[in-house]
Amino acid sequence: DPVSFDAAAAAAGPLAGPIDRAAVVDLLRSPREALYARADAVRRAHMGDEVFLRGIVEFSNVCANDCLYCGIRRSNPHPHRYRIDADEILAVARRMAGWGQTTIVLQSGEVDTPAENDRLAALITRIRAETPLAVTVSAGNRPRAVYATWRDAGMDRYLLRFETSDPDLFARLHPDCSLAERLHCLSDLRDLGVQVGSGFMIGLPGETLERLADNLVLVHTLDLDMVGIGPFIAHPDTPLAGQANAWADDPEMCFAAVAALRLIDPDLRVPATTAFDAMFPGVGRDLALQRGADVFMPNDTPGRYRKDYLLYPDKPCVDEGDGSCSSCATARIWSLGRFVGEGPGHSRKARPTA
Ligand code: 5AD
Ligand code: FES
Repeated sequence: DPVSFDAAAAAAGPLAGPIDRAAVVDLLRSPREALYARADAVRRAHMGDEVFLRGIVEFSNVCANDCLYCGIRRSNPHPHRYRIDADEILAVARRMAGWGQTTIVLQSGEVDTPAENDRLAALITRIRAETPLAVTVSAGNRPRAVYATWRDAGMDRYLLRFETSDPDLFARLHPDCSLAERLHCLSDLRDLGVQVGSGFMIGLPGETLERLADNLVLVHTLDLDMVGIGPFIAHPDTPLAGQANAWADDPEMCFAAVAALRLIDPDLRVPATTAFDAMFPGVGRDLALQRGADVFMPNDTPGRYRKDYLLYPDKPCVDEGDGSCSSCATARIWSLGRFVGEGPGHSRKARPTA
């Protein structure tokens, strides 16, 4: 009987007791349908039925780094490198409120030069002055002073995934930085009073259940505002070409990870990440929303740049026209009996202001 099943799921609530590797492994091994129902009930109780739209503008694919998994790594000669100028970004940003969006996510490769950092500060300033949008930035590691100038320009939130909690694996995948440096950036951002999002890839080659659990434990330890996790998908033009997702034989593990995330840290903002649609075409993000997620990130990058921002293959929405991801996302959200969130949809975690 679905009614009593839901009631039992809701009553089960978030994960109780110490959140350690053993407890999380148990959760990931537990029967899937009950895990999903429990995560959905906890999502509803803590976050409501609103799904917030955060429109992504991939404003530059120029990157100084050479991360082994990533399609826009500097040694991939195939993508045509672009930087979208401020007027073209503002033209998109001005339309976003009309599309039901309250946040712009400015994402790019990582280039830590004064010119790039100043350009982004000026862009944040203009978006805050000329639109009603909240501003999230996702542009990689920077010194604290650079994050401070972006915050002073009006940046509300920052996304920076830790990718894996295993420092050795992190080092092998990232020739340009260490896990410790990445975690230091997250703590600088928190100190500066910026809402902080992080996360990891699910199923990097060789991932065990224990390592997946460790990633979730690290999320809990970091006490973040937002966490995005999505399946690893090998890109053919990278050193990881041809490597299978570690959960290829049990792809539902990727959803189990989202459900576990909601049960471990029930007040998190959790996006249904785009990579779920690459791994589960047409349904991945919808299922993630039914198994713990409460945010959807439509692609608002002007259409002509999208094919040059393929971090992984089979990325959805590459052939869509400008603005059409928003109407698609809204239809998907309504079809699940959910609503598009109004207002900025800031963090649900009350924090003392910095
Ligand atoms: N497969 C899945 N996700 C990837 N990302 C980068 N490359 C891949 C890939 N091959 C993710 C990383 C990064 C985010 C912007 O995209 O987790 O933080
Ligand atoms: Fe992009 Fe559906 S979200 S077309």
